Amino acid sequence: MRAVTSIADWRSAAEGFRAAGHSVALVPTMGALHAGHASLIEAACRDGHQVIVTIFVNQRQFNDASDFARYPRTTEADLEVARAAGATLVALPTADEMWPVGTATTVHVGAVSENWEGADRPGHFDGMASVVTKLLAITGSCTAYFGEKDFQQLAIIRRLVTDLGLPVTVVGAPIIRDDDGLALSSRNVRLSADHRDAALAIPAAVARAARGGSVTDIEADARDLLVAAGLTVSYAAVVNAATLAPFTAGDTGPARFIVAAIVGDVRLLDNGPAHITGDHHAARH
Ligand code: PAF
Repeated sequence: MRAVTSIADWRSAAEGFRAAGHSVALVPTMGALHAGHASLIEAACRDGHQVIVTIFVNQRQFNDASDFARYPRTTEADLEVARAAGATLVALPTADEMWPVGTATTVHVGAVSENWEGADRPGHFDGMASVVTKLLAITGSCTAYFGEKDFQQLAIIRRLVTDLGLPVTVVGAPIIRDDDGLALSSRNVRLSADHRDAALAIPAAVARAARGGSVTDIEADARDLLVAAGLTVSYAAVVNAATLAPFTAGDTGPARFIVAAIVGDVRLLDNGPAHITGDHHAARH
């Protein structure tokens, strides 16, 4: 495995893989790699690609400067995780090269980015979509792997790849969970033992949605679980899995339950399939 910092080296490595007849996979990350990231790299290897992992803590997607400052930076350990999972190349671009003075382009994806995380974290998705577009543009033709944990992010990336006609296949990979059910996240290291126990209400809410019921019941029961555990709920909603719009009686595609909740000072996300049964807004309560 090779590590590069310059965009020129990263671009020419990707071109070299393709010239040698290999397909290329991209696994974009902000570092602090855990088993969830490793699972993306391993999936890309199994699919037969030369795997490029990018590690770049993108300041443009942090709407809170202190969150950016506190974001874990663990480069040496990250390189080991990437190597062990089978990556061929790790690109660690600098902020100066990614966002040089004079940068004036922002990628804004409408509709799908406006609710939920988009509403709670103004500017976050513009920063994310801008960096992902640049990572894909530098890498060129590839299959790009993203975790389903950031479900709205994944939907936005699918939309932008389609809208911009990028030569990219997007693969969404299942959420990896700890033994207690908590979805793996780089932010979990900031949870105290008590907060970690309380946070288990989040996967419990996801499990509640999978058991099925009306939209109203699923949302109300989930909120009850989260509030009873002392969490502050940002949202707990059943949505159309493709558009991320609130799920309505007219929806025919799959429904997804998405949740964001704050425990201590850590904001955690999770999601899973929602099984909508009967009159979709009927309430038992
Ligand atoms: O999910 C992440 O880690 C980031 O949002 C991504 C996709 C690497 C863009 O910075």
